Amino acid sequence: MSDRLPLRWAMPAALLLAVNAIAAAPQSQPQTAWMDLARTPPMGWNSWNRFQCDVSDALVRQTADAMVSSGMRDAGYRYVVIDDCWQVSRDANGTIVADPQRFPNGMKALADYVHSKGLLFGLYSDAGSKTCQGRPGSNGYETEDARQYAAWGVDYLKYDWCSTDGVDPKIAYTTMRDALRATGRPIVFSMCEWGKSSPSTWARGVAHLWRTTTDILPCWECTKSWGGLGWPSILDLQVGLDKYAGPGGWNDPDMLQVGNPGLTIGESRAHFSFWALLAAPLVAGNDVRSMTPETRDILLNREVIAVDQDRLGREGHKVRDDGDREVWAKPMEGGGQAVILFNRGAEAAPISVSWHELGLADEAKLQVRDLWQHKDLGTLGGTFTVRVPPHEVVMVRVSSAR
Ligand code: GLA
Repeated sequence: MSDRLPLRWAMPAALLLAVNAIAAAPQSQPQTAWMDLARTPPMGWNSWNRFQCDVSDALVRQTADAMVSSGMRDAGYRYVVIDDCWQVSRDANGTIVADPQRFPNGMKALADYVHSKGLLFGLYSDAGSKTCQGRPGSNGYETEDARQYAAWGVDYLKYDWCSTDGVDPKIAYTTMRDALRATGRPIVFSMCEWGKSSPSTWARGVAHLWRTTTDILPCWECTKSWGGLGWPSILDLQVGLDKYAGPGGWNDPDMLQVGNPGLTIGESRAHFSFWALLAAPLVAGNDVRSMTPETRDILLNREVIAVDQDRLGREGHKVRDDGDREVWAKPMEGGGQAVILFNRGAEAAPISVSWHELGLADEAKLQVRDLWQHKDLGTLGGTFTVRVPPHEVVMVRVSSAR
């Protein structure tokens, strides 16, 4: 700041006016408004993790209903997104065609239904010739597809990266962003390029969220031949990316597996805690029509959601790694921090965090609140130590004593 001011003040008045005029040119205002579509990480539901290609009009309507009745909508989950397999072909004009068997009422009627519930509607496509399940991709049809989505009432597009040999990711994603913006409809743009070209370093301003890794699997530790990973391994790949996240553009460590078969309740709780600490998009991927009360309590923990949606928009980072014991922290608006104490081991273990390693004075008296027990643990000085069950976390909020 200090080295910029003198130059500015030294400018002749006419030149200064011209510089200000450029800064205020029409281009910059729409870009700001477009970024504002994701001032905080987007929240919603997506069909892929639980249903893969088994998507239908009925599933989406029932899910929208359940998002309202369960309280998810009112907790902030707004986008209802159909992932791969809703599309079957293109007609003679090149217009994308939704599966008439699975979506007999058409996409416009379905979007209208979702909107009538106070929710927003999303679809999926791909930057290549085909989607990952072999359906028609948008390469070469960006303008047509964006116009069709807008006409249907789409509010969110997830844009995948299969069948893209020879395609440049920056060009492909910018082309679709521009096509979406040209429709005049506010559409959140979710980039799903799996982190291959380090999108964190360039996607701000191109997309509102960008995937940083391969697909998340519903397990603690597992892989597939094509490369999916359990959430703890995906977490490890987020280290160092926090500096790229902020209002308008977010690292996306993939959609939630909370509540899906393959994770214990404790593992789901830890997964959700971390996605909130990472300021990740919170996109539920379970069957919300039949979720257990335990899963509901995780997805609807408003104190944890508030960490994710904090207006400061900082992504959390790893503070300490002692092998199986880790400490992570996220600076929050108003000066507090959200802190996770994570036990990756097979046995319960005590884990400590000192005020010093959080960048705070050791002698400070800080309030510590447990975000899963919804309980104030008291005003503590210097350190906080707690016993953490295996594969679980304790998540607290540390703030100045009032
Ligand atoms: C890729 C994406 C997933 C999902 C599937 C659909 O694997 O990374 O999130 O969209 O394609 O085929």
